[in-house]
Amino acid sequence: MINQQGDRVIMKKKVIDKGMPPLVLPTCLLGSVNEGRANFCTVAWFTMIDDEPPTIGLVLGKKRFTKDGIVANKTFSVNIPTVEQVKVTDYCGIRSGYKVDKSSLFTIHYGSVEHAPLIEECPISIGCSLSQVLEFPGVDMIIGTVEEVLVDEACLIEGKVDQRRVKPLLYAMPGGPYVGMGEEVAKAFSIGKSLKKK
Ligand SMILES: Cc1cc2nc3c(=O)[nH]c(=O)nc-3n(C[C@H](O)[C@H](O)[C@H](O)COP(=O)(O)O)c2cc1C
Repeated sequence: MINQQGDRVIMKKKVIDKGMPPLVLPTCLLGSVNEGRANFCTVAWFTMIDDEPPTIGLVLGKKRFTKDGIVANKTFSVNIPTVEQVKVTDYCGIRSGYKVDKSSLFTIHYGSVEHAPLIEECPISIGCSLSQVLEFPGVDMIIGTVEEVLVDEACLIEGKVDQRRVKPLLYAMPGGPYVGMGEEVAKAFSIGKSLKKK
């Protein structure tokens, strides 16, 4: 159906341009060592892939200074920034290591994974080894095995990560803004059980 404004409409929904639908995604700071220094870029297109072995995937543009370091060393880090780190996270997403040195933006340390720079200020840091690079026409997906996960003790409750304490920085795609976690809605894997069949 075409509405009065000339838009295509199906049910109550207007048909918009094709593309990934707008979504709210967590952000991470992907780290590697390139040209002898630590470098980080902001990534919102990342996901867990498998539990065993723990596998993570990140979609990257073809030209990323961070990616060059990952391909060279076969290791990388994934650091989860908090809402308080919004400025530096945005900076890492708009300035490239090809042009600026981002190594002094954070307190960096290394865990058991060589050349995987971990950010002290981020409550969660993950050291990974590169297992595959999947090539697509416009992007590459780097796939890694999680070798080590470090969590700020202040974010743990009885040994489990408490997301409220992590305060992850979320990004409303495309174009922003950045947002924080909202209110809890219901218990996952539980609330659905109360749905009665008609
Ligand atoms: C909020 C946000 C999310 C981003 N997500 C991605 C992403 O998922 N994949 C990607 O390749 N670039 C992403 N970028 C862009 C890179 O972070 C940016 O190109 C960065 O400058 C690359 O740095 P590098 O060349 O030092 O690696 C994002 C940028 C911002 C601000």
